[in-house]
Amino acid sequence: MTRRARSGCPGPADEPGVFRRRLLDWFDAHRRDLPWRAERTPYRTWISEIMLQQTTVRTVIPYFSRFLERFPAVQALASAPLDEVLGLWSGLGYYRRARHLHQAARFVVDELDGRLPTDRAGWAALPGVGAYASGAIASMAFGEVVPALDANANRVLTRWAVADPGQLAEWSPASLRGLGEDLVDPSRPGDWNEAVMELGALVCTASEPSCASCPMSELCRAAGAGHVGEIPASKWKQPTLSVGTAMVVVTVEGRVVLLPAGQGGILPGPAARPGSRVDGCGLRLGFWSLAGAAGLRAEGRG
Ligand code: ADE
Repeated sequence: MTRRARSGCPGPADEPGVFRRRLLDWFDAHRRDLPWRAERTPYRTWISEIMLQQTTVRTVIPYFSRFLERFPAVQALASAPLDEVLGLWSGLGYYRRARHLHQAARFVVDELDGRLPTDRAGWAALPGVGAYASGAIASMAFGEVVPALDANANRVLTRWAVADPGQLAEWSPASLRGLGEDLVDPSRPGDWNEAVMELGALVCTASEPSCASCPMSELCRAAGAGHVGEIPASKWKQPTLSVGTAMVVVTVEGRVVLLPAGQGGILPGPAARPGSRVDGCGLRLGFWSLAGAAGLRAEGRG
């Protein structure tokens, strides 16, 4: 009888080992030369992994270089004004990441004597460092044997494990986490995590997977069953919520002023800030009463 692998892994007991070897060999031959890979320090790994969340490698490269030039160490980041940090982040999006980085840098300097954490739990306690980033930093910078599952890695592992979209009903985020944990290569955890993400970014892509050139295709259940394009299914996606957003632009003698609104601001109603969800009627009333009361010309988009 074939011995089964550990709980999270599908297939015979030796399959995870074969999977690891093949993928790491592929990574050694195909890894991209990326600035954060050139010199692996905890600080550089932290900055790059936060930037890489929700953002492509190509977009991140110039931002990473400028950021590291201006803030080469956590002390420089902690002592900078937030506005300067946000300025260097400008165009990268998801600005909460920059605020959290700055907050975390101050925490490290003020509370940890300027010493960055050295394990996953320590990183996960910093603002803005979640399960993915703490796993990525701990494995890549400290060799801790923990997974780092971003969207690319999730796709690679799900396609390997699940042959048929019909099986996705039993395939939960918890199954994926279990598989991710069981599969990390104990001797090269950081390279392993980067290899899985790299395969997802370059070969096992969401829209045009290149199964013909994939080193894992013989082991891949979705490829074997001809269902790669349907896995993972979109059912995991959060349902899309349509909301109206508000921008308030007031022009005063030819100058444009963006004004906060809501209680304490100029528009009535709770949380009616520019860019926040608003009730269209309330907003319009707000505009006209504002314009009338102040004798200004007000323009709004709801
Ligand atoms: N995406 C997230 N982390 C990455 C890394 N270290 N290298 C390439 N792509 C990534």
